[in-house]
Amino acid sequence: MSDLTNKKSWNKLINHHKLIKNNSIYSLFKRDPERFKNFSIEDENLLFDFSKNNIDEDTLQLFENLLDELKIKDEIKFLFDGKKINNSEKRQVLHPLLRGSFTKKTKNLYEKEVVKSLFKMKKISDGFFNERKLGYSGEKIKNIVNIGIGGSDLGPKLICNALDNYSNQNLDVFFISNIDPTNLSKVLSKINPQNTIFIISSKSFGTIETLKNAEACKKWFIKNSSSTIYYKEHFFAVTSDFDKARKFGIESDNILKVWDWVGGRYSLWSSVGLPISIKIGYKNFEKLLDGAKYIDNHFIKKPFRKNIPMIMGCIGIWYNNFFNSDTHAILPYDEYLKNLPQYLQQADMESNGKHITKDGKEINYQTGQIIWGDRGTNGQHAFYQLIHQGTKIIPCDFIGFSKSLNKYDNLHEILISNLIGQTMALMKGKKTNNGKEVSDFVLSKSKNFKGNKPSNTLLFDVLTPRNLGKLIAIYEHKIFVQGCIWGINSFDQWGVELGKELANDVLDILSGNKSDKKLDSSSTGQLKFIKKINT
Ligand code: F6P
Repeated sequence: MSDLTNKKSWNKLINHHKLIKNNSIYSLFKRDPERFKNFSIEDENLLFDFSKNNIDEDTLQLFENLLDELKIKDEIKFLFDGKKINNSEKRQVLHPLLRGSFTKKTKNLYEKEVVKSLFKMKKISDGFFNERKLGYSGEKIKNIVNIGIGGSDLGPKLICNALDNYSNQNLDVFFISNIDPTNLSKVLSKINPQNTIFIISSKSFGTIETLKNAEACKKWFIKNSSSTIYYKEHFFAVTSDFDKARKFGIESDNILKVWDWVGGRYSLWSSVGLPISIKIGYKNFEKLLDGAKYIDNHFIKKPFRKNIPMIMGCIGIWYNNFFNSDTHAILPYDEYLKNLPQYLQQADMESNGKHITKDGKEINYQTGQIIWGDRGTNGQHAFYQLIHQGTKIIPCDFIGFSKSLNKYDNLHEILISNLIGQTMALMKGKKTNNGKEVSDFVLSKSKNFKGNKPSNTLLFDVLTPRNLGKLIAIYEHKIFVQGCIWGINSFDQWGVELGKELANDVLDILSGNKSDKKLDSSSTGQLKFIKKINT
């Protein structure tokens, strides 16, 4: 793999950046009356507007050349064909297969494995969604508890909340992810065993947080059902390690498969989505898959200028690598999407937070952006100040829906006006006329908005399962494009391992099984403090 910084188009982008970095985005609109048309993509019921960015025709052309130079089409083919592109773990990366995006090379796998697994998921979720499958005492199941962390938590949590409007309102889904006993206690205090099922979701079935929480739930269930057998009907597992799940006591019929070719943060489309399918019904789950499949097709077939994930990926690189902006804000103008920034944090940062290339060379340019955000308009009254008047460039993605799922006066019109108003304000800014509008010098300076802050806007017609599937798949492929440009492996996550190892060492010290001699003085000091309080 040759170095990105040696690429012809990369170097041309460096020169191009020098030429246009001081452009005013607003003046680009004045220069080109067709700017919106030229810098936006409409596809079905989705509008992706990227015109409010400091880019011009040349920028797009150079990025297109860069993607050609990097042979992005081949990379996409490798992904969909199931080549082992996760090279540090020697694994295929086949999450698109879960939504039916197969090629000649992967069709067999789809038909043999995925279809079978979806069928099992349908059977199980139909029983609970339709309230036909009863608990051990004959009561209807009312509570679903998902025990999992990272990708085995964030995806189901995002979708169950986001598609609440489409869900069975008699069912409540709870999430136990943190090893903090508060998470567990709070959930257990709200449920009873007769009408609750538990889903232990862990691809590895080896994650300590999940296993400890699952053991605690099993103990609680046995104690409160006054029986050692009923838990077998009420506990399910989603994993790639059937043996470990069986050893834990899960019946084979209640174990659903997830394969080693599905990364945790890309797994909501698999059986990890079982809580989703129970809560919103299998038909809606299929619509979610269908939306993602639509985007897979879009990503494979659309030319660069019409390809949303490609353009989004390149714009992200533009600010990260050329304007040195470290972060990227995700701003959904929809209460249902309140977990989206957190979901995308894992999807993006665990994928692209890497410091070596795929062939192991140290990288000498910036990679993964810091993803953060909150829903509008709450964010406006919290952190937008810094985006508007701070010293940093923070590219933003505004996400909204033309129609709301809940009508109440003109609240939605106000919400959506805020979305568009914010993108305008960020771009245009506002100059105070010294001495005229505001007589006080400091006040006049303080009221000055420099503007020229970039943003993308994604507008759908309405929040549906299909549209949500599209939205998430767009981000998945955007992350892929960026990983290809940076030349990194977006599909491993070794950075999480060291912390886990050291936590085990500290636990041994805390429980007196190991001495603290090898620790630094800060860690020893903290442990001494904890021990002092606890004795
Ligand atoms: O935090 C690291 C991680 O490996 C994530 O990538 C993954 O989603 C999570 O742990 C949970 O893993 P598992 O599903 O194997 O319990």
